[in-house]
Order: sequence, then structure tokens, then C-alpha cells
Amino acid sequence: MTWKTINQAKLQGKRVLVRVDLNVPIDGKQVRDDTRIRRLRPTIRAIQEAAGLPILASHLGRPNGKFTSDLSLQAIIPSIETSLHQQVTFIRDWRTPSAQEIIKATARDSVILLENLRFYYEEEQNDPKFAAELARLADIFCNDAFSCSHRAHASTTGVAKHLPAFAGLLMQKELNALEVTLNKPKRPAVAIVGGSKISTKITLLLNLVNKVDYLVIGGAMANTFLAARDNAVGISLAEFDRLNTAQDILRHADEVNCQVILPTDIVIAAECKPNAAWQVASFQNCPDDKMILDVGPETVAQICEILIAAKTLLWNGPIGAFEVPPFDRATTRLAQFIAEFTRAGELVSVAGGGDTIAALNHANVINDLTFVSTAGGAFLEWLEGKSLPGVLALNQ
Ligand code: 3PG
Repeated sequence: MTWKTINQAKLQGKRVLVRVDLNVPIDGKQVRDDTRIRRLRPTIRAIQEAAGLPILASHLGRPNGKFTSDLSLQAIIPSIETSLHQQVTFIRDWRTPSAQEIIKATARDSVILLENLRFYYEEEQNDPKFAAELARLADIFCNDAFSCSHRAHASTTGVAKHLPAFAGLLMQKELNALEVTLNKPKRPAVAIVGGSKISTKITLLLNLVNKVDYLVIGGAMANTFLAARDNAVGISLAEFDRLNTAQDILRHADEVNCQVILPTDIVIAAECKPNAAWQVASFQNCPDDKMILDVGPETVAQICEILIAAKTLLWNGPIGAFEVPPFDRATTRLAQFIAEFTRAGELVSVAGGGDTIAALNHANVINDLTFVSTAGGAFLEWLEGKSLPGVLALNQ
């Protein structure tokens, strides 16, 4: 698949509709995490420097086609202005003819922001007339929202039928990072997958074992794998109705020579509460009244050994109950080790998924990996090997 990036477009005097992801966490009127906003800067600057006018379009939340005042993108304007050091022109009623007048009257070095696209049900239905309306506001379409590209919506796919379509610089960076780790990894390649449920990650795990040399499984998901190998897991979170699935994944990994790494020692406690009494045990010795909440130091050391020899790492999901100290220890230690190795130029490391980002922030190493994707669903679908409609729409 090939696509053009925005700096290959002739932008002088052009209006550029940029699909961005401003779906950021907000507390009342305060943006809680502005990472997605800060990452838009390169594309917006590139358009402005080439004398084009960026018109930002995004959704916020899931308002189901209705105006919902606390999901107005107006609340995000101060954060965008702080990040770009310039004023934003907000167009609330961008479907009325006056929007064209406002755009015409806006200075070329400005930024325009349209109101939440999902206030109109036609956006999620990928309604062709709605896509044409959006397209009429611009001369060029730029998708800089990898994190929304698993959605076949008017602003991610429909609009690309009406305008020349280009990838934004963030989209380009994200696609490159995923390509380098998943499709053309330097070997040995390792994937670490944590999280609580196998049932939500079956396709992902089956795809990953085909791509990497080592698959490290952590989090509550590992409990299901341990149980599938006939180990007692006490009162741990596990999916006992998925033991066959876990066995299928282990069998398939064997067939394709992917080594699956499960915990060899575990951190157990009677409850998942901050500072609960805990102890380290062998993976074979989880008592009936205890739960597994983290991997032990021996397992962390084994993962680090594998990483020392590795060239590429893909990480999705914490390996312990990291939100509840002291069960954050293994995840934090691992995050720090990966950061150190990446900084030393020994490892290409790509991580993604909401909990993984929280864990990297918790370990204070969010800026030290090769690339951290802020995409949730899109990142997981990519790991599953699916083609994303918003990326396909850029195909030349
Ligand atoms: C995200 O936060 O993952 C994207 O903005 C997509 O949001 P959605 O799941 O509501 O489509």
C-alpha cells in the first residue's frame, strides 16, 4: 500500500481539511492529558509554512448524533492555542453557508476548528452527502488521526472520495513505527502483551505469534494460560471458559517457532488493595485463597535477558496490576529497562494502548521509547493484522 504525505502536496493558498483526534480526556472544562493535542503541531506547522490553511475536524466522545454541550470541542480550544501559540477560529455551525464565508475571511496563517463531527449522526454512518459537505470546505484532505482510522466514517474515509488525500506527519510516523515493528522487524523481535482478558485479544495473539520470536504474556491474561497448563491459580482473575483458546494459541506458537514466555514466579496476595500483604511464589504454588497480582523478580530478569538480545519490541498492556502498588513493580522495572535500552540505541521499542501509556507515565519513561502510540482500538486492530479503512482510503 502506498500513500502520499502532506509535505508532498502543493499547499499554497489551499484549504486543508485535517482529520485529527481531539478525543482527549476532559474533567469539566479542563483537558486532563494533552498528548494528542501536542502531537498535532508538526502537521499544522507544515501546512502553515507551505501557505495553506489548516481546518481541523475531529470527534469528541460518543454523542450519538446529538448536540451535547459537554462534548463541544470549544472546551479544547485553550489547549490547542497553548500548544500552537496562536488563536483558533472556531466554527460551530460549519454546515451553514456562513462557514464558507468565515473560512474565506480567515487569514492564511490561522487555524480553524470545526465543532464535534459526531454531533451529526451522518458522520458515523459515513453518509455520502455529509462527506461531500465536509469536502466542500476544503481543497485537500489530510488524515492525521491514525487512532480514528479503524472507523469507516465520513471524516476518515468518505471525504477521501472527494478530495486529494494525504497522510499527516503524525499518521506517517505512526504507520512507519508499526511497519518497522510488526511487518519488517529486526530480529529477534519480542512482543509483550498484558491486560486482563484473552477473549478480547485472541486474534491479536494469534497474529503476533506469526510475527515475533518471543511472546511474553503478563497481566491477568497470563493466569488463564497458567490454568490452561494445569496450574492452580487460586482466586486470581482468569477466564476458565477460555482454557482451550489459550491451549490453541500455545500450540500455534509452537508450530511457528514463537517462544511463549509465561511467569515462572508470581506475586500473590489475598486481595488487590494498595499495600496489601504479598509474597513471591513459584507459578505452580498459588494457594486456593490467594490471587496472582504481578510477575515475580525471576520472571522480570528472564524478560530482561530476552530484551538484551532483542532488536525490536512491541508492547501492549501492563504485566501486573500496576495501578495498585506494590503490584506495579514488575511493570515499572520493565518500563525502565526498555527505556534504558532504547536510549542506548540497542532496541527499537513501540508501545500503545491506554493502560500501557498510563504505565509508562507511572514509570516516568513515556518519552524514552522509540514511539508510543496514543491509539486505542486502532492500535489493537492493527496488531490483529486488520487493514484500517482510514489508512486504505489514503491508498494512491
Ligand atoms: C480513540 O480514542 O481511540 C479514538 O478517538 C476513537 O474513538 P472511538 O472509539 O469513539 O471511535
